[in-house]
Amino acid sequence: MARLPDPQDPLFRALNSSVGFDFRLAPQDIRGSLAHARMLARQGIIGEEDLAAIEKGLTDVREEVEWGSFEIREGDEDVHMAIERRLTELIGAAGGKLHTARSRNDQVATDMALYVRDGAAKAGRLVGDLMQALIEQAESHLDWAMPAYTHLQRAQPVYLSHHLLAHFWRLRRDRLRFAFAFEAAGELPLGSGAVAGTTFDTDRDFLAEQLGFPRVGENSLDAVSNRDHVLDLLSAAATCATHLSQLGTELVLWSSDEFGFCEVADAFASGSSLLPQKKNPDAAELLRAKAPRIVGRLTTLHGVLHALPLAYNKDLQEDKEQLFDAVDTLELCLSVAAPMIAGTSFDRARMAAAAADELLAATDVADLLVRRGVPFREAHGMVGGLVREALASGRGLSGLSAQALERLAPGLEPEILAELVTGGGVLESKVSAGGTSLARVREQLERARAALEERA
Ligand code: ARG
Repeated sequence: MARLPDPQDPLFRALNSSVGFDFRLAPQDIRGSLAHARMLARQGIIGEEDLAAIEKGLTDVREEVEWGSFEIREGDEDVHMAIERRLTELIGAAGGKLHTARSRNDQVATDMALYVRDGAAKAGRLVGDLMQALIEQAESHLDWAMPAYTHLQRAQPVYLSHHLLAHFWRLRRDRLRFAFAFEAAGELPLGSGAVAGTTFDTDRDFLAEQLGFPRVGENSLDAVSNRDHVLDLLSAAATCATHLSQLGTELVLWSSDEFGFCEVADAFASGSSLLPQKKNPDAAELLRAKAPRIVGRLTTLHGVLHALPLAYNKDLQEDKEQLFDAVDTLELCLSVAAPMIAGTSFDRARMAAAAADELLAATDVADLLVRRGVPFREAHGMVGGLVREALASGRGLSGLSAQALERLAPGLEPEILAELVTGGGVLESKVSAGGTSLARVREQLERARAALEERA
């Protein structure tokens, strides 16, 4: 480092060094360097013998990385310098030619874009596994009744299949968001140099093709400092993790004795160190609790990028730990969620008993009155009166006396009311598109299967 003859302060080095966390970019870095070297040789910027030496050297370095024998040295500031240092140790002077027409700024931006593409593709696949588990559980519990809740108060009965598919559609949107992040990371930064481009006659289209980028970054300043795709992946991950937290919380509630709707497999539960009877749904609880951590990673990167002047700033080094932690955390959560959902067993009788609550038919009673000409607002009030009376009498809507009915909802026949609230027709009455009637859920399942198969 000719410009700076004095050694770096060790504390500054500790602050400045990223190799401790960015070494995981080694596979992407080597991919990028191989493509770069090939481009340099094709363009006659380096010789064929240099290319051969660099290819051989990088292949050896890749093997050391894969075998875990690569040694990070004291002076290796980041993954890029570590790999170039090792390459030069292995092949001598030719190693020093690799960095021609390239800067660490376009290099790290390329590594990160490659990493985002890998991470987004993997997250999409893992979301697909969970979508599949939900579809399969929906298929095997097609007509199991349960209450749907609003404000966590029983609202109307639905089929368990319908409830599970609600989570499916959220995850399908997540998968589309991961696909978007993958696309967004499709602009090749390499070839932008430090900030302004390079003086060499490079071929960026060749680089893009070698590395699987559909497009070449249009502007060198933008390309070296663009981290939008990292935000996109973190944002998709944050939303997905939030969805997992919503799924997790339902498993926690449903597996409690109070609900008794389901039991998670032993493989995803723990016992208590003190209470011998306990089976705790820890996995579901952690799905719930990991979400804010991932949201925090997104928020942190927004903070890092906020008000940064163009183009590369060292601040950008802070993108990595946010991305890596979010990707690791989400991958682990998704990998647990899919088999946990697949292995959860449901208690048909407990759910049916909760769904049989006569009050869940209140809307259907109001709709009946509406069909007879009562304006909805008025019918709503009348049924509210019936519910109050039913609760006070403790006998349910079907047990209301003829006199009470005559007083509160004149003309409503007791037999018809009783049939409506106990006859089980309330589920099948929801025939609107996207509703819970069996025919509609079957259509929905068809569409869900098709959505699962679509190329995300
Ligand atoms: N470790 C750096 C990062 O992650 C690589 C780029 C360094 N560029 C520079 N001009 N110092 O951002």
